[in-house]
Amino acid sequence: MLSTTITHRTPLMVASSTLSAIRFATSATATSATTTTTTTTTDPNPHTIKHAQQVTTKSQLQPPQQISFISHDAEIHQPEENGKKKKWFNWGTKIYTNDGITHNDDPKFLTPHAYKHVGYSPAELYGVEVTHKTPANFREKFCYGLIKTCRFWFDLVTGYAEPKTGDPNEYKGTRWEMTESKWMTRIIFLESIAGVPGSVAAFLRQLQSLRLLKRDRGFIQTYLEEAEQERMHLLVALKIGKPSLFTRAIMYVGQGVFANAFFLTYMANPNAAASIVGYIEEEACHTYTELLKDLDNKGKFPIFENMTIPKIAVEYWPGLNHQSTFKDLILQIRADEAKHREVNHTFANLDLQRDRNPFALKINDVDQPQPNMGLKVSKPTGWERKDLIL
Ligand SMILES: [Fe+2]
Ligand SMILES: [Fe+2]
Repeated sequence: MLSTTITHRTPLMVASSTLSAIRFATSATATSATTTTTTTTTDPNPHTIKHAQQVTTKSQLQPPQQISFISHDAEIHQPEENGKKKKWFNWGTKIYTNDGITHNDDPKFLTPHAYKHVGYSPAELYGVEVTHKTPANFREKFCYGLIKTCRFWFDLVTGYAEPKTGDPNEYKGTRWEMTESKWMTRIIFLESIAGVPGSVAAFLRQLQSLRLLKRDRGFIQTYLEEAEQERMHLLVALKIGKPSLFTRAIMYVGQGVFANAFFLTYMANPNAAASIVGYIEEEACHTYTELLKDLDNKGKFPIFENMTIPKIAVEYWPGLNHQSTFKDLILQIRADEAKHREVNHTFANLDLQRDRNPFALKINDVDQPQPNMGLKVSKPTGWERKDLIL
């Protein structure tokens, strides 16, 4: 019991006082005596009391700017915003300046990755190609048609068109012009979707393993690794730009729809789910290849050309360092997508109940090449089951 003067409070009141304490702690004029009074309570939950008291203690010990770790005040480029009317349906992403990107890097939150990145050689990075697995059956035709339809509408709505001529300014001044802001929006939106399948599939296989008291045959780790890579793609993009409120609202709804649809698809037919992801990854490789071509047009994207890449990217990809460019970063991300493409097209060919995950196996003394998690040995359209030692 900390006080004899305060009666029992509801959780809402506790939350309210905790919020007050946090607000108070960030105020330069906050005084410790008053704050201590607001956190005094007879709430039976000792953690609540402790947390509130810790916040109060921080206000006494640290200057306010050290408490604020949220990057909302990071500096941003706003070249085309001046004088324009605010649009509610704004797809634009505000890109941070180099100072803003540095400001956004929170070294104290860097945690070791559960799955260490395997790394790629320059030849592997530049050797990624846009490929397509020709649908071999109705399931694959359906999945491919579905992804192509989604892409068509997404491109139409967001104003994206493939260049038809070699002119880098082909769409300049039209709604199809790709700016740095639009590229970042596209990356952020698609990566927030791409991070779903690996985590849902891993979750379902985890449940299956627990429910049926059976080993998983090595799929969970590969799915989780894919999910982590996709989330890293998103997090790095978020260190570079801040999506609009409208984009975030669409992402919020999009995740709700896609996560549930994918969950049900994987439950009903995991091979179809794998085909869907395989074709999504084909589109991802395609899109990043178009971005890389655009980046080769010197002077077209000055912000990207002079960008400091975020520290979390340098920490994650072995092939990056602090001198790496935005293009180097996109090459790494595209190589990840190429691996996901191969993995998921291969999974679509397997008996996912009986086969072992060929990407998780280490088989010695065999003549024929077998898959691994790198790109040294790779089949972009997936490995046929007959070629695998399972
Ligand atoms: Fe990705
Ligand atoms: Fe991917």
